[in-house]
Amino acid sequence: MTLPTLTIGDLTARFPIIQGGMGIGVSLSRLAGAVAKAGGVGILSCAQIGYQDPTFDKGPLKANLKAIETEYQKAKAIAGSDSIIGFNIMCATYQYERYVKRCVEVGADLIISGAGLPIHLPELVANSKTKIAPIVSSAKAAKVILRTWAKRYQRTADLVVVEGPEAGGHLGFSYEDAHMAPEQMDVEFGKILKEVAVYEEQFQQKIPVVFAGGVYDRQDIQHYLDLGASGVQIASRFVVTEECDAPDSYKQMYLNAKKTDIEIIKSPVGMPGRAIHNQFTQRSAQERIPIERCRNCLSKKHCDRKTIPYCISQMLLNSVTEKPQEGLIFAGAQVHRIKEKTTVPELFAEWTGLSTITLA
Ligand SMILES: Cc1cc2nc3c(=O)[nH]c(=O)nc-3n(C[C@H](O)[C@H](O)[C@H](O)COP(=O)(O)O)c2cc1C
Repeated sequence: MTLPTLTIGDLTARFPIIQGGMGIGVSLSRLAGAVAKAGGVGILSCAQIGYQDPTFDKGPLKANLKAIETEYQKAKAIAGSDSIIGFNIMCATYQYERYVKRCVEVGADLIISGAGLPIHLPELVANSKTKIAPIVSSAKAAKVILRTWAKRYQRTADLVVVEGPEAGGHLGFSYEDAHMAPEQMDVEFGKILKEVAVYEEQFQQKIPVVFAGGVYDRQDIQHYLDLGASGVQIASRFVVTEECDAPDSYKQMYLNAKKTDIEIIKSPVGMPGRAIHNQFTQRSAQERIPIERCRNCLSKKHCDRKTIPYCISQMLLNSVTEKPQEGLIFAGAQVHRIKEKTTVPELFAEWTGLSTITLA
């Protein structure tokens, strides 16, 4: 059976596969461009997106706002002007509004926003073509966002990303619920679809809902399509591709990971996160790691420098700058199944049953 297309407003991707945003430096233009070129939706992570710019240390915000444009243009150059390239921006980001506005300015097709409730997102993209999607993990969160957007802005989401407990990175669950069985999440997913249907009816528009977290093979994709999803968002499987922007030392950590190496850690953002066990996770469980330099990644509300267990930017930067043992390596719950390096067209060939030549 062929996979359906994914329509988000007036945009249509050939395949219903969104590549999840991965910060810092894991999903930049090479990966997002390759995914969009193969027929999926490529997502650039805004988290310290300009970390390779020589001016980053002096002025992270300025370097990041500049990199939003260059990375977007590079991704579009790889994938073509008809491709769908979006950004992932965490709500907890310091100067969140400026990041959103910059993405709109450069012509972003889509903004996906989670790690908090993107309550003000509609007013930040007003009068633009940029589509918006909240990330939710419960029917309650979906209701709060969609109801607020309807009342306050008389609009709804262009897409909803539902992130389950098997996802990598920050999780929208309590530490206990992060171990929830996928079957239990399937029930919650059904409730979210019902919640979304209320707003499809009210606004007379289709709101595609995609599922993220632990989606590994074609069977998993089919499972969520059968439950009523319009597509899936996949992240971890894209990490060990040639096109992924992370260094080889990072990809090697994925290849070496065993099931017992997958941990739920405490993030300074105040949410649990899923990561690969290494010297960093061991150290952070035992002691507070001193902060070398603040790079202003999180809003003051989300980061109290006096009490945080470690600096999240510092640890994520360590992991992509050849110090993977000393850094935070986010990964989804199925990472231990990844056994070899591949390419983006090969992954799409596996999921779609088509040849790599038509997908390259
Ligand atoms: C290395 C890594 C970094 C991530 N960074 C972000 C991020 O910056 N913002 C975000 O909303 N989600 C982030 N995520 C979550 C993914 O976008 C995605 O929703 C999730 O990992 C899907 O599950 P999977 O990895 O099992 O496919 C990250 C995931 C990984 C594996």
